[in-house]
Amino acid sequence: MVKRVAVIGAGVMGHGIAQAYAGAGIQVNLYDPDEQMLQKAKNMLETSMSLFIQEGVWDEEHKENTWANLRVTTNLSEALNSVELITEAIPEILELKWKLFADIEAIVDEDIIIASNTSTIPLSQLAARVQHPERMVITHFFNPPQIVPLVEIVKHERTTDHAISTVMEVMTRIGKEPILLQKEVPGFIANRLQAALIREAFHLVEEGVADARAIDTAVTAGPGFRWSKIGPMQTVDFGGLDTWMRVMQNLAPVLSKEEKTPGIIRQHVEAGELGVKTGKGLFDYTDEEVLRETHKRDVHFLRLLALQQEQL
Ligand SMILES: NC(=O)c1ccc[n+]([C@@H]2O[C@H](COP(=O)([O-])OP(=O)(O)OC[C@H]3O[C@@H](n4cnc5c(N)ncnc54)[C@H](O)[C@@H]3O)[C@@H](O)[C@H]2O)c1
Repeated sequence: MVKRVAVIGAGVMGHGIAQAYAGAGIQVNLYDPDEQMLQKAKNMLETSMSLFIQEGVWDEEHKENTWANLRVTTNLSEALNSVELITEAIPEILELKWKLFADIEAIVDEDIIIASNTSTIPLSQLAARVQHPERMVITHFFNPPQIVPLVEIVKHERTTDHAISTVMEVMTRIGKEPILLQKEVPGFIANRLQAALIREAFHLVEEGVADARAIDTAVTAGPGFRWSKIGPMQTVDFGGLDTWMRVMQNLAPVLSKEEKTPGIIRQHVEAGELGVKTGKGLFDYTDEEVLRETHKRDVHFLRLLALQQEQL
C-alpha cells in the first residue's frame, strides 16, 4: 500500500493534489524548482485548509496532521527519496515532461510508478522516451483537486496491471472517484464532454441567440444543476429513450460541427484578455472579485461534496 508520494510541480494543480494526499494520511514530498512557487503553494494550502475547517470538513487536528504529512523542497533527489508513487504536475510542455522523466528515472528504482496529470498529451507519447514505460500512467485530477472527486486514469498498452491497480487504490483511499479509460483518446472523457458543450455555447453566442451570462445560467440553473447527481446517460433514461431519440433526430443535424476554436475565444486571446488571470475575459474582474469568486466557488464545491457524500 502506497504510504509516501512525491508531487512534482507546486502550481495550481500540484499544491491541491499534495493536499488531497496529505489530508488522507499519505506522506507527501512537494517539489518545485522555484522557491517562490513553493512559498505561494504553502500560502494556498493554508487558505484551502482553513476553508476546510470553516466548512466543518476538517477540524484543527486534521489540518495539523496534514501539515505534518507535507514536506516541500527544491531538491528533486530529496523529493524522490523513498517514495512509491510520483505525481507529475508541471507545465503542459512535452519536452519539459520528457526531461523531468529522464531526471526521475536516473534517481528512482524501475518499479516506482510515475503518474502524469497531463490534460492533453497522450500517455503513449509521454512514455515514448522513458526507459520503463510500463510504470507510466495518467491520473488526471480536476481543479481544485483537493475538492473535485473525479480522477481519470489512463493506461497505455504497456502499463502494468500493478501500476493501474495501485493508482486506483490510492485514489479511492484519498476519497476520489477514479474512472479507468478502456483505451487512450485525446482529451480523455470529461474534457471531451466539456469541449462539446463549449463549442455549442460559443456557437449560440456567435449566432446571437444569447449572451455569455445567459448561456452560463442555462447550464448552472438547468442541466448543470442535475449533472452533479445524474449524468447524461441517466438523464436519457429518466427522460425516456423514445423522447431522447426524437430530440437527437431533430437536433443532431443543427448542432455546431465547427472544427476551429471559437472566434470569440481567439479574439480575446489576441487582445490579451485571458479571463481572471488578466482581470478581463468574457466578463470583467477586479482583484477583489477574483478572490471573492474563487472563495465562493470553493465554498460551494465543498458543500456540494458534502451533499453528494450524504446517504439519502
Ligand atoms: N490548471 C488546471 O485546471 C489543470 C487541470 C487538470 C490538469 N492540468 C495539468 O496539470 C499540469 C500542471 O498544470 P498547472 O495548471 O498546475 O500548472 P502551473 O503552471 O500552475 O504549475 C506548474 C508548476 O510546475 C513548476 N515547474 C516548471 N518546470 C518544472 C520542472 N521541470 N520540474 C518541476 N516543476 C516544474 C512551475 O514552477 C510551477 O510551479 C499540466 O500538465 C496541466 O495540463 C491542469
